[in-house]
Amino acid sequence: MKPIQVGLLGIGTVGSGTFNVLQRNQEEIRRRAGRGIQITMVADLDTARAKSVVGDGAKVVGDAREVIANPEIDIVIELIGGYGIAKTLVMEAIAAGKHVVTANKALLAVHGTEIFAAAHAKGVIVAFEAAVAGGIPIIKALREGLTANRIEWIAGIINGTTNFILSEMRAKGLDFDVVLKEAQRLGYAEADPTFDIEGVDAAHKATIMSAIAFGIPVQFDKAHVEGITKLQAADINYAEQLGYRIKLLGITKRRDKGFELRVHPTLIPSKRLIANVEGAMNAVVVHGDAVGTTLYYGKGAGSEPTASAVIADLVDITRLHTADPDHRVPHLAFQPNELANTPI
Ligand code: HSE
Repeated sequence: MKPIQVGLLGIGTVGSGTFNVLQRNQEEIRRRAGRGIQITMVADLDTARAKSVVGDGAKVVGDAREVIANPEIDIVIELIGGYGIAKTLVMEAIAAGKHVVTANKALLAVHGTEIFAAAHAKGVIVAFEAAVAGGIPIIKALREGLTANRIEWIAGIINGTTNFILSEMRAKGLDFDVVLKEAQRLGYAEADPTFDIEGVDAAHKATIMSAIAFGIPVQFDKAHVEGITKLQAADINYAEQLGYRIKLLGITKRRDKGFELRVHPTLIPSKRLIANVEGAMNAVVVHGDAVGTTLYYGKGAGSEPTASAVIADLVDITRLHTADPDHRVPHLAFQPNELANTPI
């Protein structure tokens, strides 16, 4: 069977990783998906950079709409980021009947309800494993592995940049600004690192997890958001002396009347597993009524770890592509339930 054809919008850190891993592991991926998966078109404003990544492996264009207009393309990967043009292109791709894979947590946390509704109406999938905790398959864990559970709470280190900064400040006594620059160099930080250090990125991810775990709409505007910019080395040292580590946690919790959704620096006893998650790593603790407490750990940012999640979504969609459309969308899209109007 002909490979499923994929168009990639934006070939920066994650886009290059996706292209390279798909090529490197193409045989395994083909076997697992039941069909080859090929990125045949790449759109990027910087066409020279795009060509240097893909060589002759895909057609490079400067206009993303050429990809969306191509009837051969079944899946569009959006790796542009932000709420602006990315939203327009995702909505246009859905309207054109394309499945969409995105790592864009900001877009989904703010406009997810509208996007999922459009996808549902069109009978296409919007998949977003890469939007939360990079390479950790936390969306799958919540949606599939823990599907039998009533989820009670989730708490996680879900921003690699801030965890890297806090770890380096504590272990090496380095200054905040020096470590932030290093996180940017390593490709962990957002284009606008304010989103990382002010807790906004973690709040985007916590918002998405709350929607999946509790069946409520994405409601980023209701989140309490506090970053790490007010922390000083002295705070980290005092916490250490008292037997605690400071971690930026994203927390969402079921309450009697509604849900909590918050991001803030948290004191965690040093002996806890999650207190020992260092560097740009992520860790998410999920508590379900049947399973109890579970912990998911791995790289939450970076080129190939995030590509790993993007490709997992491509494989899922490829498997489902020929399935009955009535069974396709509920598998992957956000599904509001009877709690949908419960306040956060
Ligand atoms: N800036 C994000 C982080 C990238 O540091 O975790 C991955 O979402």
